Amino acid sequence: MSLSQFLPAFAQLKTPFYFYDIDLLQQTMAACKKEMNRYGYHAHYALKANNNEKIVKLLRDAGFGADCVSGNEVLYAVKNGFAPKQIVYSGVGKTDEEINHAIAHNIFCINCESVQELEVVNALSAKAGKVVDISIRLNPDIDPHTHEYITTGLEENKFGISEWEFNHMVERLQASKNLRLIALHAHVGSQITDMPVFEKLCCRINELQQVLADKGVTVEHLNMGGGLGVNYEDPEGHPIADFAGYFAIFHKHLSLRPGQTLHFEPGRPLVAQCASLITRVLYVKNGQKKNFVVVDGGMTDLLRPALYQAQHAIRQLSSDKMPQAYDVVGPICESADCFGKNIMLPQASRGDFIALRTAGAYGQTMCMRYNLRDLPPAVYSDELPLSV
Ligand code: LLP
Repeated sequence: MSLSQFLPAFAQLKTPFYFYDIDLLQQTMAACKKEMNRYGYHAHYALKANNNEKIVKLLRDAGFGADCVSGNEVLYAVKNGFAPKQIVYSGVGKTDEEINHAIAHNIFCINCESVQELEVVNALSAKAGKVVDISIRLNPDIDPHTHEYITTGLEENKFGISEWEFNHMVERLQASKNLRLIALHAHVGSQITDMPVFEKLCCRINELQQVLADKGVTVEHLNMGGGLGVNYEDPEGHPIADFAGYFAIFHKHLSLRPGQTLHFEPGRPLVAQCASLITRVLYVKNGQKKNFVVVDGGMTDLLRPALYQAQHAIRQLSSDKMPQAYDVVGPICESADCFGKNIMLPQASRGDFIALRTAGAYGQTMCMRYNLRDLPPAVYSDELPLSV
């Protein structure tokens, strides 16, 4: 489906807005499910990537569970009909109130990230008169070769517990009457395109499973988090992430114990490619050294370029005039409010539509109201006419 098909409909709308290609989302979910089902794996969709209610409900209907990182996400998942036994909850700084929500709703498990957290969860579980299922989030000290802000699995990162603490953590768990260790969990980073990273993760988990086995402990589940990268350079050529290659790595390299189930927490690969931020050109500033295209969407609508120097493919939808190099910038009073430098685009005019592609993950969820700007609304392909 080409975005230009929707131009007549876009012309009636106020920009900027998020445009969701629902067919592509359905195809992506189906591709992920097909590959997971091959091996009987389970997936909990990482709500943080996109919590738009319509999108979340489609993921729920496709059979995904929910991966949450705040008490509000847990409540949101429950409210939107995810089965509590398909909800997992991670986070390095869970408050007592948030933990109580997770306990009250009997979720699948709480991923514990420190010895102290474990003690707090044990005390709160005792208060609630429950035995709560826990997984240990490991920090396997693996470099995922991605942006440093989205690297989580190195010892220097705040997430999970390090190998040197693992034994102590297991002993504390065994001594905690109101906790039951059911899983080992790891998530080493996001937007990982270097696939051998996942192989390394499997090897580390195999070693740690052996440490557990030596203590006579086996867990029922492993949870390998998320992190599979998508193609930001060529979204049209690679609309669906390499789910086949990804799950095959775990099948080949991870040694599951008899009866053990394997879980994942994909966020970005499920939703990134299905959305674009649609903006209009406000002004074209032709300079002596640079030409600027000033669009009406900015870093408040799509933060990734400003925060992670992320490059989202930029497409001019309105014309196919001779290409020219532009810096594509937003209207906000920050020099970081720039979507791309020296981007070749068909010669632009005021009113042209510009799409920032691959904006479905960490796009709408990371919007903000800096400068008191309006939040961009969502528009869906299945609710728009193809021509008007
Ligand atoms: N599980 C845990 C524990 C996580 O922390 C994350 C993402 C995921 C799963 C999902 O990872 P994914 O499949 O989406 O890679 N805002 C950043 C990304 C932050 C990712 C945080 N954790 C960005 O825009 O690139």
